[in-house]
Amino acid sequence: MIPLPPVWFVGCGQMAGALIEGWKKAEVDFSEAVIIRPSGRPVDGIRTVRTIPDEPSPLRCVLGFKPQALHAVAPKLAPRLSSTTVLVSMLAGVEVDTLRALFPAVQAIVRIMPNLPVSERRGVTALYSKDAEPGLQQRMLGLFGLLGRTHWARDEAEFAAIGAVAGAGPAYVARFIAALAKAGEERGLAPGLAQAIALETVAGTALMAEARGETMDEVAGRVASPNGTTEAGLAVLDAEGCLDRLIAETIAAAAERGRQLAEDARKG
Ligand SMILES: NC(=O)c1ccc[n+]([C@@H]2O[C@H](COP(=O)([O-])OP(=O)(O)OC[C@H]3O[C@@H](n4cnc5c(N)ncnc54)[C@H](OP(=O)(O)O)[C@@H]3O)[C@@H](O)[C@H]2O)c1
Repeated sequence: MIPLPPVWFVGCGQMAGALIEGWKKAEVDFSEAVIIRPSGRPVDGIRTVRTIPDEPSPLRCVLGFKPQALHAVAPKLAPRLSSTTVLVSMLAGVEVDTLRALFPAVQAIVRIMPNLPVSERRGVTALYSKDAEPGLQQRMLGLFGLLGRTHWARDEAEFAAIGAVAGAGPAYVARFIAALAKAGEERGLAPGLAQAIALETVAGTALMAEARGETMDEVAGRVASPNGTTEAGLAVLDAEGCLDRLIAETIAAAAERGRQLAEDARKG
C-alpha cells in the first residue's frame, strides 16, 4: 500500500470522489484520511464525518467543495489548520492569493485542477503553487502521477488554461460522443449500439494517436482519401473553421465564468 499522510477531504463529491477512486485503484492507504461532508454520506473504507473533527490539524487538507461555499467554510476550517498543513485546493477559479488571505497559517497552498478520468488513472491534473518547496512539489507530482498525466504550471494563467481544456474537457468530449451517437441513431442504429460504437471510436482514436505519436492531421489524413466520403464529411466540420470556432467559443465562455468565480471569491 502507498502511504498517505494524515489528510482531511473537506467535501467529497464528483471530483474528490474520483480522486479517491483512482488512488484506491493505485493501492493508496486511506487509514489516516478523514472525509468531512455535511451529508455524512459514507465512503467505503474511509472515516466520514459531518463536521470538522476536534483532532490535531492534518498534514494535508483537500478543499473539494464548490467555490461558492468557500467563505462559509473558511472561517471554521482555517483556525483548525496549522503551519504543518499543506492546503490543496481544487476550487475552480479561486486564486492562491485569495486562499492565502483566508488560510494565513498553513505551510503551503497548492492548487490542483484534475479531471474526472482520474478515477480510471487516466486523468490530467494541473498543479500550481507560489510557496511549495521543491520536495513538496515532487511529493505532490508523485501522488497525482498515480492518477495519470500531471503538469506543474508556471503561473496561474497556464493553470487556468489547462483547467479550461482538461478540467472541463470530459464534458465537451461527452457531448461530441453523444452527437456522434445521435447521428448514428438517425441513420437507423439502435441507441445502445450507436452509443457503444461512438464511445469506442473516440477512445480508440485517442489510444491509437497516443500509441503511434501521430498528430491529429495525420490521423484525419489516414482516414480520409482524396475525394472520398470522410473528406466530404470533414469539409462540413472544417468549413470556415466551424468546429475550431465552436470549441474556442465554448472554452472562452468557461474561462469567463472562471474569471467571475475568481472575482466573487476575492470579494467574499
Ligand atoms: N466535477 C469536475 O469535473 C471538476 C473538475 C475540476 C475541479 N472541480 C472542482 O471540484 C470542486 C467540487 O466539485 P464537484 O463537481 O465534486 O461538486 P459536487 O459533486 O457538488 O460536490 C461538492 C461537495 O461539497 C460538499 N459540501 C457542500 N457544502 C459543504 C460545506 N459547507 N463543507 C464541506 N463540504 C461541503 C458536498 O457535501 P455532501 O457530499 O455531503 O453533499 C459535496 O461532497 C469544485 O470546487 C470544482 O470547481 C470539479
